[in-house]
Amino acid sequence: MQFSLAVLPGDGVGPEVIDEAIKVLKAVGARYGHDFKLEYGLVGGIAIDKEGTSLSTQTLKMCKSKDAILLGAVGDPKYDDPQAPVHPEDGLLELRKGLGLFANLRPVKVYPALENNTNFKPDVIRGVDFVFVRELTGGLYFGKPKRQWRTSRGRRATDSMNYSEQEIERIVRVGFEVAMSRKKKLISVDKANVLQSSRLWRQVAIEVSADYPEVDLEHMLIDACSMRIIQNPRYLDVLVTENTFGDIVTDEASMLAGSMGMLPSASIAGVPQSGVKIRGMYEPIHGSAPRRARQDIANPIATIMSMAMMLRYSFALEKAAAAVEAAVERVLEEDYRTYDIMGEGKKKVGTNKMGDMITERLGG
Ligand code: IPM
Ligand code: MG
Repeated sequence: MQFSLAVLPGDGVGPEVIDEAIKVLKAVGARYGHDFKLEYGLVGGIAIDKEGTSLSTQTLKMCKSKDAILLGAVGDPKYDDPQAPVHPEDGLLELRKGLGLFANLRPVKVYPALENNTNFKPDVIRGVDFVFVRELTGGLYFGKPKRQWRTSRGRRATDSMNYSEQEIERIVRVGFEVAMSRKKKLISVDKANVLQSSRLWRQVAIEVSADYPEVDLEHMLIDACSMRIIQNPRYLDVLVTENTFGDIVTDEASMLAGSMGMLPSASIAGVPQSGVKIRGMYEPIHGSAPRRARQDIANPIATIMSMAMMLRYSFALEKAAAAVEAAVERVLEEDYRTYDIMGEGKKKVGTNKMGDMITERLGG
């Protein structure tokens, strides 16, 4: 079968981790007889440098014409100046919005091999396996008004947490569908004790729950949720939440897995269903880590696992996706580690070597 994808390596460690994911993808193609047609494009700081904008209209158009997009990371300290007219991150947000990728799935899984490699007691994190469903095209990131201005008494700025019931409904529905495919437990995370947008969120979640009588719906406040993530993470299974809340707590949750370098993500434009292909963009949750760039040390696992999610959701290649995931697990069981998940007595490898190891273990 033939599949088309856009590859946007982006900035910092992005190109390095993408190279490894493509290496594994090509091996998947050879092994299972699939033809992956790749087209590369620029996004982020590199796109500003070369094309004057963090995402050109041609690149967005190119991405729209593909079955899926694989993205590395964006962000460059060169553009950190808050006064800068353009930011690398804008390109990422335009891609999410432009492609209608409103649902961001962020699985958090603790591998047995890494149980002793985190800041947590192994007893607390053993067997942790949950998924955050983060709303991705609304809320504080996109709400209007959004601006900075000067007044006679100094500068002011505003961002708006804005949601329509339709936006809430479709993301909550994704949460319920994911819950149906797992333990039929959904936690809707909000701040309904304070925020109007959260009160609407909670009402809509309750309304949608009527369509899913089998799912046990629980509401949790975002502050309590951030505590629960480190206090009793095994309690969690599927969580659905607003864009900014989801951004913050998924960084927190990544620490359970040992490193941000372990967490993949899928941004999709609809409800994921087994066997059904859905357009999506796949990227690690980590940033461009500019200080780690070009040293062959970055952990490519999050990107490789994102690529596996692409095989599953956009190409409906479940077997290939599971093979990639199993290969990652095996490499970890054999004690190979990048610097970020290094532990005593383990074998340290670089980005490229980690990619090779995973490729070699594809299919057992
Ligand atoms: C993420 C990242 C992005 C976000 C940044 C790079 C804009 O932190 O994917 O979590 O805030 O969504
Ligand atoms: Mg983030």
